[in-house]
Amino acid sequence: MEKVSTQDPLHSIILVAKGFYARKDRAHDLEHALRVREWGNKLAQEEGADVSIIELAALLHDIGRSGAVEKTHAESSAGLAVNILQKNGYSQEVIGRVKEAIISHSREAGHEPTTIEAKILYDADKLDFVGAIGLGRLFTMGGVQGWPLVGENSCETFYQERIQGYKEHLFTKTAIKYFEPLLQYMESFWRELQTERLNISLSGYAKSV
Ligand SMILES: [Fe+2]
Ligand SMILES: [Fe+2]
Repeated sequence: MEKVSTQDPLHSIILVAKGFYARKDRAHDLEHALRVREWGNKLAQEEGADVSIIELAALLHDIGRSGAVEKTHAESSAGLAVNILQKNGYSQEVIGRVKEAIISHSREAGHEPTTIEAKILYDADKLDFVGAIGLGRLFTMGGVQGWPLVGENSCETFYQERIQGYKEHLFTKTAIKYFEPLLQYMESFWRELQTERLNISLSGYAKSV
């Protein structure tokens, strides 16, 4: 379980966020938000963006995933984030910029990221869906959704239809640089999985069951 340091300048925001993330969906929990914050920080430093906006947006970007069904999760998260930031005394300017980033971090809401901070939040979120961490999150989601490993509506099809496609939609060069090797790692995992499945069926054991 993640530790929340009292030394962290965003400690009070993290504590509020933690309450929203405390649910069964471990693919979108506080640890995911904390990793997106780290990725966001890294991208902001290399791309030259406002880290303070990205950090707040990263910590709060998925808090509305179990919110009202008539809204997308990005819209629900943005609405909740506005309330939290107002209660914590942030300026209207900061709140507006954080809201804009959160609302456009997912394509389901139909909002395109336009500011550099929104683009970085979008990219940072996708970077947490590749590599070994990405695979872990994918199978965690698959477990919650009841997806089989391969075949129709499976972990493999989610990988092929969503995660592979993120590469074409990243906004920053820095994110593409980090994304590619992590995606290659996932590619090699699925190749190995197919080899193992083939070897099992060639051994004849599967046929005799
Ligand atoms: Fe999200
Ligand atoms: Fe996310």
